[in-house]
Amino acid sequence: MSLLTFNRPFTYAILVSIFFISHVLSFCPTGSFELPSENVCAIPYATPQYYLQADRQCRSVGGMVSKIQNSFENAYLSAMNVQDFNSQPPYIGVERNSNGAWVYADGSPITYSNWAPGEPKNGTALCAILDPKTAKWNTSDCNVGRPFFCTVNENGGPCPNHWAYLPYTDSCYYLQDFTYSNGVNWTSYTSSEAESKCQQMGAHLASVHSDTEMNFLYSLTISNIQNLAFPITNHCLYGGAWIGYYGTGVVGNGNWTDGSRVDYVVPIFSHPGAPQYWAIINDPSCDRQYWDYWSDQGKTARFVCKTPASSMIKNKNLVK
Ligand SMILES: *[C@@H]1O[C@H](CO)[C@@H](O)[C@H](O)[C@H]1NC(C)=O
Ligand SMILES: *[C@@H]1O[C@H](CO)[C@@H](O)[C@H](O)[C@H]1NC(C)=O
Ligand SMILES: *[C@@H]1O[C@H](CO)[C@@H](O)[C@H](O)[C@H]1NC(C)=O
Ligand SMILES: *[C@@H]1O[C@H](CO)[C@@H](O)[C@H](O)[C@H]1NC(C)=O
Repeated sequence: MSLLTFNRPFTYAILVSIFFISHVLSFCPTGSFELPSENVCAIPYATPQYYLQADRQCRSVGGMVSKIQNSFENAYLSAMNVQDFNSQPPYIGVERNSNGAWVYADGSPITYSNWAPGEPKNGTALCAILDPKTAKWNTSDCNVGRPFFCTVNENGGPCPNHWAYLPYTDSCYYLQDFTYSNGVNWTSYTSSEAESKCQQMGAHLASVHSDTEMNFLYSLTISNIQNLAFPITNHCLYGGAWIGYYGTGVVGNGNWTDGSRVDYVVPIFSHPGAPQYWAIINDPSCDRQYWDYWSDQGKTARFVCKTPASSMIKNKNLVK
């Protein structure tokens, strides 16, 4: 789906609904449907995907894997499921975080649930599905290909397109993903080059202050590097995404480029003697999920920017 054609109906929808207050017409993107009177569009994806791929797909269209917030939405998605997915159970946007709590895919605590009897099971399953026969939720492994809906707020939520929103921090995050500007190699950036790019968008490299935010960033930046074309054998070294930390990897030491306090660092796999620039990597294909560091000349292919949602609302139509 083209993001350009996706965006226009939204802008149009906001203008038209102001003048006509009409619930008859749906302004959801082509191929999606509106949850009646909820101002939420649901986009069906019938091609089975692993959960992490579904999660990325939904973020890329400015939404998340179906966020079900009440029994009405649950019943409606369950009914649409039958016709869109031929009764195959889809993933829903509910996942178990590293503390064992079930949360929405955007990291916020679940405020509605419809677990089947005996669920959620205390097994290893980290994902959840909607049983189309009963409209109840079951736990599921995440590495099973399944259909899914993405839900997108009709007003686009507080962040611009391509920025992901985390309610817990009330901030917007942007992942600069792998790009191949010369058609062969990834474009790569030093930490200060990445910080400049973020600043051009009114943001800074991301700072991290809690496990919730860390889990969100890991899920935003998950990669599968071994499946990407890259003409260097040790390409796992290049998959990190810059965050804004400069320091020795100890609480209280160094600084974040956004000026916030260094009150959170996760246990690191090795400990540098001198301050360094830090990146995160979450790549199961490289067997890596940790913070890594480079000197000021070190380059990596990705970075994450962050800014308070309140700072983006005024600029919303300017950021593309
Ligand atoms: C799962 O484990 C938690 C805490 O260990 C416990 O409170 C809960 O009852 C268990 N749930 C089931 C379905 O066994
Ligand atoms: C959900 O779990 C119940 C009980 O284990 C099972 O009977 C049902 O088939 C499951 N539904 C799906 C869609 O896997
Ligand atoms: C791609 O990177 C490799 C290794 O750094 C380099 O040898 C090669 O010239 C680069 N290719 C292009 C087209 O930039
Ligand atoms: C972080 O610390 C370095 C070294 O002391 C300094 O050059 C830099 O200006 C500081 N950055 C911020 C945002 O405070």
